[in-house]
Amino acid sequence: MTPAPTTQPPAAPATPAQPAAPATTTAPATPAASATTTAPATPASAPAAAPILPTLPTEPTAPTAATRTTIKPVDLRGILKYVPRFKDQIFIIALDGSIIADENFGNLLVDIAVLRSLGIKPVLVHGIGKQLRELSEQRNIPITDIIGTGVADAATLDLAIRATSRVSHLILEGLTQNAIKCAITNAIHAIPLGILHGIDHQYTGKVDRIDTGFLTTLIEKDITPIVSPIGFGPDGKALRINSDLLAAELAEALRASKILYLSPSAGLVIKNELRRDIAATALAAILEKTPDHLTPVMRSKAANAIRAIGTGTPRVHLIDGRDADSLLNEIFSNEGVGTLIYGNDYQQIRRAKRSDVRAIHNLLRGAVRREELIYRTQQAIEKNIDQFYVFEIDESLIGCVSLYFYPDKPQLAEIGSLYVMPTHQARGIGRKLVDYACLKAKDHGAETAVALSTQSYSFFVATMAFEETTKQILPEARLKLYEVSGRNPKVLVKPL
Ligand SMILES: CC(C)(COP(=O)(O)OP(=O)(O)OC[C@H]1O[C@@H](n2cnc3c(N)ncnc32)[C@H](O)[C@@H]1OP(=O)(O)O)[C@@H](O)C(=O)NCCC(=O)NCCS
Repeated sequence: MTPAPTTQPPAAPATPAQPAAPATTTAPATPAASATTTAPATPASAPAAAPILPTLPTEPTAPTAATRTTIKPVDLRGILKYVPRFKDQIFIIALDGSIIADENFGNLLVDIAVLRSLGIKPVLVHGIGKQLRELSEQRNIPITDIIGTGVADAATLDLAIRATSRVSHLILEGLTQNAIKCAITNAIHAIPLGILHGIDHQYTGKVDRIDTGFLTTLIEKDITPIVSPIGFGPDGKALRINSDLLAAELAEALRASKILYLSPSAGLVIKNELRRDIAATALAAILEKTPDHLTPVMRSKAANAIRAIGTGTPRVHLIDGRDADSLLNEIFSNEGVGTLIYGNDYQQIRRAKRSDVRAIHNLLRGAVRREELIYRTQQAIEKNIDQFYVFEIDESLIGCVSLYFYPDKPQLAEIGSLYVMPTHQARGIGRKLVDYACLKAKDHGAETAVALSTQSYSFFVATMAFEETTKQILPEARLKLYEVSGRNPKVLVKPL
């Protein structure tokens, strides 16, 4: 367990009275009624820090169950503003084994029901570390690895399977008590980790493939998948997988917008200091240079958070799973209560090179056919390659944008050739490309960004805060081109 940070008071009771499954028995009968019903029955387990969500006691001390259920309209408005933003998004909720054994688990299940009622699609992944250790002690069977990254011998795998059955069942039971349809899946196809540095890792595996079709089918039918840290090898036999890694792999495969790691720690503690947020690049540097500033448990989460961000998951949160309301507070408040690990929004954008010409031409072809963009020959793209910026994932071009400064009106910069591959649309890439182009335009001294659009003007208006104006804003030479094109696009502007 990560030591409590010096800057944060401990947020939960040290040891739950009944580690195995007390939480499920405390789950309220009416799960989706409101976030405030998640308050634990005993005030003693309320978080020490003032919660941001609707738990607003009228008395400053020892809130009672009654005061904790008071929702002010302002709180509700605060929550509702997030609903359209998060609707239909997949959140990977990764629960450490110890959180499933914690008395707050019942509250977390209710909160998961709240998320679902707001249109969010949770996918649950769980660990088994605590249960595995307990089983090993109870049965006096030594184990070779707890967290799923070391060597798992046959006895360890056997106990891991037993621990997994127990934990998955507890989740199944808890979700059932909250009237949530769910399913334990065999969607994780694994292969053995193999021999690393001369050591055979035996029954420890890594993800080979995720059956996203299967998981998506469940999600679309409003069934919450439960994914256990046991994958299935090519022969169908079980392999133990680290649950932090599994969460990162799932987030990538399902294009989740968040991973929420719930562990018994207030967040990411680096050199005894609780961090509220950190960029993935800064965290990667710490992991490389001073890994001992983090505990081994947090190192695993940090490394997998960085991995997830690198493969396109925008945000990873580390939250105290023992803390009542922490899940909802982290999601529905600007400040959050745990640690947010975020990517550098623009690291995947770079200036186009001559060698990108063909890829850009291919990228834009489909949009040209649909008259979304104007046709440009490869030669024209090559001639103006300095105007293009590309968005790259794993060395493949996923999107592009161009930026043009009018010689006769330098205070204006035109944003054009904006395109995101259909497979990667609706993941914020278009927004990043336009934001980036605006930043570049401003750096060059432009005061206003202009975009001409025939079909995506509502993207510029609704998503990018551009406003419609008349073509008269265009400089003379550009206006002539506008007239001869006959496309009659809307002219949109945004002050920089
Ligand atoms: C327009 C385009 C670049 C948006 O890229 P994207 O990566 O899918 O967009 P993002 O993920 O950053 O933004 C998504 C938001 O934009 C909205 N959006 C996306 N495409 C839209 C469109 N064509 N019209 C209106 N809104 C659109 C989404 O509904 C979403 O809104 P929300 O955040 O409220 O849910 C992309 O759809 C595209 O390449 N379209 C074809 C080419 C094109 O029309 N280019 C513009 C020429 S000027």
